[in-house]
Amino acid sequence: MFPRIIPLCLLAAITGQVFGATDKVICYYASWAVTRPGNGKFVPEDINPSLCTHINYAFAGLNTDGTLQILDEENDVNQGGFKRVSALKETNPNLKVLLSVGGATAGTDVFVSISQDAQKQQAMAQSAIEFFETYDFDGLDVDWEYPNSKEGFNTLLSALKGAFEPGGYLLTVAVNSIPGEVGGYDIPAMSNVLDLINVMTYDFHAIFAGFTSENSPLYGGVNESDWQQENRNCDAAIRYWLDGGADPQKVAMGVAFYGHSFILQNPSNHGLNDPTQAPSDPGPYTDNLGSLGYNEVCEFHPNGTVVFLDDMKVPYLYDGSFWIGYDNEESVALKVQYAKEKNLAGVFIWSIETDDMHGFCGEENGLLKAINNEIKK
Ligand SMILES: *[C@@H]1O[C@H](CO)[C@@H](O)[C@H](O)[C@H]1NC(C)=O
Ligand SMILES: *[C@@H]1O[C@H](CO)[C@@H](O)[C@H](O)[C@H]1NC(C)=O
Repeated sequence: MFPRIIPLCLLAAITGQVFGATDKVICYYASWAVTRPGNGKFVPEDINPSLCTHINYAFAGLNTDGTLQILDEENDVNQGGFKRVSALKETNPNLKVLLSVGGATAGTDVFVSISQDAQKQQAMAQSAIEFFETYDFDGLDVDWEYPNSKEGFNTLLSALKGAFEPGGYLLTVAVNSIPGEVGGYDIPAMSNVLDLINVMTYDFHAIFAGFTSENSPLYGGVNESDWQQENRNCDAAIRYWLDGGADPQKVAMGVAFYGHSFILQNPSNHGLNDPTQAPSDPGPYTDNLGSLGYNEVCEFHPNGTVVFLDDMKVPYLYDGSFWIGYDNEESVALKVQYAKEKNLAGVFIWSIETDDMHGFCGEENGLLKAINNEIKK
């Protein structure tokens, strides 16, 4: 009946291989970067649409009745932020642009209340569809950090999917990379309903712990405890999702375009796990305590010493009493190789406006280019 499918199925049965390409580069765009000073300013037209397959516009909020909330009317609407990002599809017709709702600062209360109320779920779905139509989005990315119940999350996702399916709109999520710590996820059900699951494989170590650590190690460190090796790295998180029943072709691994940064207690002790006084001051552009964007590392620490960790497959940099565990062109390429080995859908990036857009470290947008070069190999 389906002669073109049968040979593939037979081959799959023989080889045990699942067919699919690791070809997705999902670019989160932190839209508030338009107000950053100097070289940190990043507007929609600064996005190179040929280097992303998906752009997730961060963020919209939610009203208590379930409808979507515009968080920055001036930037998103008056200055045309939403429409200017979706207009990038004119340059890359294969590009998908999604609206991302929630995020780390959105909290969980409003999501909990919507997940418990069918009427609010319908309101959320209808409101999302109105946004898609008004601003030419292709779907919704739900970034609930973090669901309090598997059932509630599934109910919400199923309601959204049911409403989106007739229009062919995409539904994706961003999920915690340390699932044991929260309510947990019904992975097979999610894999069924969703188009993509973005596993946030970063923020593995606390900035207040008092010692230097990596933000997004690909593998565990040889000196880490067994528990850390089994829980606190990209590989452990991805294996958790795949072993839990996620279709690898629905899973995207997170790549961080920022690092975790510290002030060393003693500038002479600048290795991994060495004592720190405090998280480093916020960067002039990203304005987060204990963190710098890759753009800030490149612009403000050009003479820092870079050390690449062979076990964790990520670098750190020290410069006087400053220390950061982050990602560079080498480590992001290794992460794409890993995604290919696991037959994942691809990688996603948090977030593209902190790439080295002015080329202080080398080529402009060096990280995103390194990712694309590796994807295309
Ligand atoms: C592991 O710890 C030992 C002892 O502190 C140290 O000499 C070694 O460099 C560490 N190895 C790595 C890869 O961090
Ligand atoms: C980096 O080193 C160069 C050459 O020694 C020097 O001119 C420059 O001022 C240094 N930059 C910083 C930010 O320290």
